[in-house]
Amino acid sequence: MGGEHQRGTHQEPPDRPMALALYERHAPIYDSETDFAAADRERVVDLLDLRPGDVVLDVGCGTGLCFPLLVEQVGRRGRVIGLEQSLDMLAKAQERVEAAKWENVDLMLGSVEDARIPVEADAALFSFTHDVLRTEAALENVLAHLCPGGRVAAVGPMWAPWWAPAMNVLIWYVTSDYVSTFEGFSEPWSHLARFVPGLRVERQDLLGRCFAWGAVPAESPGSKR
Ligand SMILES: C[S@@+](CC[C@H](N)C(=O)[O-])C[C@H]1O[C@@H](n2cnc3c(N)ncnc32)[C@H](O)[C@@H]1O
Repeated sequence: MGGEHQRGTHQEPPDRPMALALYERHAPIYDSETDFAAADRERVVDLLDLRPGDVVLDVGCGTGLCFPLLVEQVGRRGRVIGLEQSLDMLAKAQERVEAAKWENVDLMLGSVEDARIPVEADAALFSFTHDVLRTEAALENVLAHLCPGGRVAAVGPMWAPWWAPAMNVLIWYVTSDYVSTFEGFSEPWSHLARFVPGLRVERQDLLGRCFAWGAVPAESPGSKR
């Protein structure tokens, strides 16, 4: 996609070139544009139930808006790894890491589905990453790098019920410039639920927002958590 993004309601799988073009444009002002979601970021990070020393993947980390919350919870012994395919977004994340002088935050440029994740992580965060949640190969890769009992938490947009059409117009307007597909927008967590038995879902129907969280199976009662 070279020029302006045409707002639409694509039902195809996520479109990487389109997503890269969107975020190239948003990167310079992304933080102020999405400040309204700060409370959702706090909540989704809390749902990860992090402990000091944990290693956490921030999947589709963008400019790193969740990093301060994650670093605070995993502490100096813990580690945060940001996975992000947009160079423009990751450059902002890098600036954030340098400004805060965090030594335990690593950034990886590339698509989540192709990332060579160098750790077995305790937890994975999906904060406003609809495209990633709709890419099964990306989920497979992330979940294959979680330790037994590793936790996941996601927050993101979804359609409001059919009887709230005005709300859906608003959701479409706010969201269509940040996702490359609306496929799965009624149940964005549906692929994740296949990997995480017992995934808990909270639908905030009238806000067009959902949270999902849970843990992958623990290997044995004696495993890490
Ligand atoms: C709406 S932003 C969310 C950023 C951040 N997590 C937050 O809470 O603000 C979505 C991010 O996911 C990234 N992304 C989308 N699909 C991706 C993929 N397949 N691999 C890596 N990053 C991806 C985009 O480049 C973008 O930076």
